[in-house]
Amino acid sequence: MGRLIIVSNRLPFSVDRDGDQVTIRQSSGGLVSAIKSYFESDASASSDIREKMWMGVADFSGEDWESEVQPRLAKYDFTAIPLFMDTAVYKDYYNGFSNSVLWPLFHYFPSLVQYQANYYDAYVQVNRNFANRLAEVVEPGDTVWIHDYQLMLVPEMLRAVQPNVQIGFFLHIPFPSYEILRLLPTEWKTALLRGLMGADLIGFHTHDYVQHFMQSVKMLLGVDNYFYTMQYQDRLVKADLFPIGIDYKRFHQAAYDSEVLELRNDIKRNFENKKIIFSVDRLDYTKGLMDRLNGFECFLQQHPEWIEKVVFVLNVVPSRDEIPTYLERKRQIEEKIGTLNGKFSSISWQPVIYRYNHLPFNELCALYQAADVALITPLRDGMNLVAKEYVASCVTQRGVLVLSELAGAASELNEALLVNPTDVIDVSNAIDRALEMPLHEQKHRMALMQKRLVDYDVVKWVNDFLDQLANVRKEQQKMQTKLLDDRIYKRIHQHYQKAQKRCFLLDYDGTLVSFARVPQEAVPSKELKELLYRLASDEKNHVVIISGRDADVLDKWLGHLPVTLVAEHGASFRMKGESWQQSIPTSEPWKEVIRPIMQIFVTRCVGSFVEEKNNTIAWHYRNTPADLGFSRSRELINNLHQMVQNTMLQVIDGNKVIEVRMAGFDKGVMALRIVNDLSPDFTLCIGDDTTDEDMFKALGNKAYSIKVSNGITAAQYTVFSQRKVLPLLDQLLTPLTETEYAGA
Ligand code: UDP
Ligand code: G6P
Repeated sequence: MGRLIIVSNRLPFSVDRDGDQVTIRQSSGGLVSAIKSYFESDASASSDIREKMWMGVADFSGEDWESEVQPRLAKYDFTAIPLFMDTAVYKDYYNGFSNSVLWPLFHYFPSLVQYQANYYDAYVQVNRNFANRLAEVVEPGDTVWIHDYQLMLVPEMLRAVQPNVQIGFFLHIPFPSYEILRLLPTEWKTALLRGLMGADLIGFHTHDYVQHFMQSVKMLLGVDNYFYTMQYQDRLVKADLFPIGIDYKRFHQAAYDSEVLELRNDIKRNFENKKIIFSVDRLDYTKGLMDRLNGFECFLQQHPEWIEKVVFVLNVVPSRDEIPTYLERKRQIEEKIGTLNGKFSSISWQPVIYRYNHLPFNELCALYQAADVALITPLRDGMNLVAKEYVASCVTQRGVLVLSELAGAASELNEALLVNPTDVIDVSNAIDRALEMPLHEQKHRMALMQKRLVDYDVVKWVNDFLDQLANVRKEQQKMQTKLLDDRIYKRIHQHYQKAQKRCFLLDYDGTLVSFARVPQEAVPSKELKELLYRLASDEKNHVVIISGRDADVLDKWLGHLPVTLVAEHGASFRMKGESWQQSIPTSEPWKEVIRPIMQIFVTRCVGSFVEEKNNTIAWHYRNTPADLGFSRSRELINNLHQMVQNTMLQVIDGNKVIEVRMAGFDKGVMALRIVNDLSPDFTLCIGDDTTDEDMFKALGNKAYSIKVSNGITAAQYTVFSQRKVLPLLDQLLTPLTETEYAGA
């Protein structure tokens, strides 16, 4: 593998300057913890990544970088690329759009969102600065991995200038449901989604976040997904879940480190004969600190037997304290702690031990190990690594994790005592249960959680993401090989020009015209009719419109043209210059059975409708809310499959339509029949739907077959959009020049 460039708002280290004194510490937060511990792991050292780089905003001056910071970074195994930003713009981007718009909204705190246009402008500007700097740094073969909500526009911006670079994106916070995302102004929310779609692979912590993202993409960009893959513009983009892990070994082994042991024993001695409840969180309203304190207060009230026998060590790590909401929370929390301690303390005991500072690694590990209970109850959290680190630190498997069911980690750590963080009684009961839990149960629960964390640690997380990213590239390349490029097109054109008897088999909806809201609206344009006329007027050409439409509609719209019309996938047809014929006898009775079922689904799925044709009956769901339509269509298919068992009927799962028709005919049978009768020396078949696959399969190498849009196909070639079809046909009518013809 070439170079790996990590891109995040923060560099992994933060610089504090106090007068002449410069100190460097690890930046706080889960993102840095995870990637940095991967970079420091043995697995990373022995990987085939040629060079590691980390780009982020400098929280130090250019002079400090030269004289103080850079010299001290030599010990790291990666190259840091600091970006120096204009302070005012950075403020609007960081305090503003990132942390007063995206952060509250994505964590389901819409009332805290500050919709300010200057915040958005600064966000665009800083994202652009990142993309521009990346464009200078990136070399062929590099992998760029962009992280988190501060940089959601960068993938698209980078793609625009470096179309071939491999880009991964990972979101470390929740992706909210569409109902929440839609609160943003349209320009902002579509830009964010477009921004992400510039990546090849977009990673999330949980299945829910992936679903929310894909639904938003469907609703706002009109892009469908198929097993986590999306066809966006001319690329395949994948979204998937990668629940972030921790450096399990590092936390586990810290238990045997002499300094950590000493610290741990000090803590234990300090709180002799008392149970220790512990938590550590950045200062953030999403962490539910007020609710947690309320829960603890409720516990002391409900269980006075624990008074003087328990302490709650609450560590808050400074974060974003320039933002008023954060400062205000800090004030409230400290006031609450004061009240709580005032209410319950005695001369020799105080229930809450509060600290507001950054914890060095050894101290953090000592606290994890000393704690009898970890009380981790965020109101929302993308994942929450502290919970995982606590579990990894319990080497004796003694200890209980009380965890919010609203943290991403809850979907992996379900042996924790899961609580609703706002329900004080639930929290109080969980604390009591945790303190009373028999040792064998503690061990049992811990063992199961530990197993899961060892199995999917941070190294696996990184490798899994990077492997998947490489796989997406392979899939894209596979797709590209089918893509109808200029070279292949010229070959087809050359063959066309040489041929004496040519046959065109053209599907109608989705191929010659784009989809309309209702089928009646998809009338052929003047341009299309004219093109078909010109194509069909060449006496060497035989043009066949082969459609799922019924004969009446085809006759009305295209009947005047010198073409062959095939209706309802081949149930009836009208050869050029002749009259309509039925391929199968029309039989009405079966429709009486199918129609009522479809009608029930029309009632159950707003926007869907039934279309009745001579030989087919169809339920369309293209105008329904995307998810509802899809799930109802699966139910309908199930129902119909059961009904048509042992009959001559078949159920077709088309593009946003379910059709029932007699078995024994399809577009493939009809297309083959026409081609066999005509024996052309050039055949071109174009279609977009499942029913067109029958033609592609039946014709095999007898024709050039082209599928419109993505997906697995039996066609030889693909074009991405219906808009490409008419120009493609039109161009065939323009003779190649002599040189083109010779050199094709
Ligand atoms: N952490 C830290 N500094 C501290 C205390 C903790 O960097 O003073 C680390 C902690 O070990 C954990 C991360 O910060 O890895 C917090 O990640 P989490 O996912 O729990 O929450 P986030 O801060 O990302 O919202
Ligand atoms: C969370 C976010 C990170 C962020 C971290 C610390 O973990 O997902 O992107 O870096 O919090 O927040 P800060 O604003 O200090 O970078």
